[in-house]
Amino acid sequence: MNISIYNSFPIHVKKAMGCIVESTEGISYVDTFSGIGVMLLGHSYEPVLESIRNRIQDYMHLSNYFPVEDATSVENILLSATEMKQGGLFYTNSGTEATEAALRIVKKRETCSKKTIIHFSGSFHGRTLGSLSLLRDGFVKERFGPLLPNIQSLEWNNEEAFDKYMNANGQEVLAIFVETIQGSGGIRIISDSMAEKLKHYQKQYNILLVCDEIQSGLGRTGKWFAFQHWGLQPDIVLVGKGLGGGLPLGATIFSEELRYEFLPGDHGSTFAPNPVALAAAKTVLSEIPSCISYIQKMTPWVQEFICTMLGNCIKDFRQKGFMIGIDPIQSAKEMVQIGREYHHVLLNVTYNGTIRLLPPLNTTKEDWSLMITPLQKTLQQCII
Ligand SMILES: Cc1ncc(COP(=O)(O)O)c(C=O)c1O
Repeated sequence: MNISIYNSFPIHVKKAMGCIVESTEGISYVDTFSGIGVMLLGHSYEPVLESIRNRIQDYMHLSNYFPVEDATSVENILLSATEMKQGGLFYTNSGTEATEAALRIVKKRETCSKKTIIHFSGSFHGRTLGSLSLLRDGFVKERFGPLLPNIQSLEWNNEEAFDKYMNANGQEVLAIFVETIQGSGGIRIISDSMAEKLKHYQKQYNILLVCDEIQSGLGRTGKWFAFQHWGLQPDIVLVGKGLGGGLPLGATIFSEELRYEFLPGDHGSTFAPNPVALAAAKTVLSEIPSCISYIQKMTPWVQEFICTMLGNCIKDFRQKGFMIGIDPIQSAKEMVQIGREYHHVLLNVTYNGTIRLLPPLNTTKEDWSLMITPLQKTLQQCII
């Protein structure tokens, strides 16, 4: 019997294409969050499928005893995109493993007097115990403690609290983990002034800045990585979700300086990087530059479209490219079922009640209309 850890939709899927998920009963649902931000080019994207087929007919898994050409190609693209050309990269199978690898790298720098790791309220960096130590405060975290020591949680976008903490303790801070756009936290975007403070303290106290781009990276916000909107220069960047085109693949990318400290034996993986996922990743990454231009062009239109369609029903709207948070004037949680049952739209709602839109990066105007029209009907039906 399945454990009931997930609150799954009662839908058996026959086929998924683009942003449409078709059930075995022949109902077409519109998917507004593309497998929680994984299907960057939409479901069943033919060039990705083709690269998977081509690779799989030769081999599926070899292990790290064999060099794989695609591993080097994907690494080079990611190092160049993060502007860390002389840096290094460690492959993982998931986002949380990318966070864990970052924690290992950070821990190698720990000393008796410099050991604090900062994260922010609303943050989410994964579910393994190390990553969980960096989770927003709350009951999930409390159930599994004690977690890693020397972790400091600070309030998101509260500059005063940040200044106060850093002025008193900055010398002890080893690393800061940040999602410049908090995904699971409800698409909460870093303020410009908070980003400036991050830059300032990173430099002043020689702090390792770890940018978690697992949800916001790979073109989603109209740049390769969200941190680039604020000109941050991270020491470590985390990537996951859509990298493997729907197959499990993540990466921890680090600066040249750290590259010489992260040594053989410091970490490893049986599966990562899987060659089939790498073949898919190469195709996904080759399409990101055109998706970035497309998203930049589409962003004002999408904003206008959503606000016109949903304006009366929402109290807040936050957007960077195709990463969008919508706060309805009434609880979003009840809307998931109504949307699915009556309007055939699949919605994702974050723990704090934000409807999170993470559509494919190539979503057309017609597809936006397919998503927002049933969402409008759902909101109108729910809001009395
Ligand atoms: C910002 C961020 N970090 C880390 C993770 C964890 O990734 P995974 O579920 O692949 O372990 C997620 C997943 O949603 C995420 O959004």
